[in-house]
Amino acid sequence: MKNNLKHAELKDLFLLKIKALYDIETHLVKALPKMAAHSADKDLKSGFKNHLKETQGQVRRLRNIFFLLGISPQKTQVEAIRGLVKDAEWLIKNIKDTRALDAGLIAAAQYVEHYEIAGYGTALEWAKLLGLEGAARLLKETLREEKAADEKLNRLAKHKVNKQAIRPEE
Ligand SMILES: [Fe+2]
Repeated sequence: MKNNLKHAELKDLFLLKIKALYDIETHLVKALPKMAAHSADKDLKSGFKNHLKETQGQVRRLRNIFFLLGISPQKTQVEAIRGLVKDAEWLIKNIKDTRALDAGLIAAAQYVEHYEIAGYGTALEWAKLLGLEGAARLLKETLREEKAADEKLNRLAKHKVNKQAIRPEE
């Protein structure tokens, strides 16, 4: 009985995490076009557009997880992602140098990626513990995408965008 209760508690937490991730991803589907639109560097712009497509796929994966769990998709409103997106919007509004803005947008996007990596990492471990193999497989795919997106942003910042931001605009 005690074991069952423990199990139920972790499953509740897991469900809450999936509802939070569903809110986060749908919020990002709305935010990413704005970040793409305000990127000057063509690689950054296409990177945001590609990640928008990936994010739409991540939303579909979460819907599949709800399906596997036998419940309809639900969201838990997450204030943190709204704060991170607001930070990016603040940069768009206040940084006038387009090259500096690009560097700032990468930094803002990496905050989001690290935040998502933490969320999916936890959800994946909990799914495994709960024996939810189908959900674990889907979460692992998204976790891999988020890590790849972060690494791509890292390379773009390091080898191009940060360097461009040092020089004044022509
Ligand atoms: Fe994502």
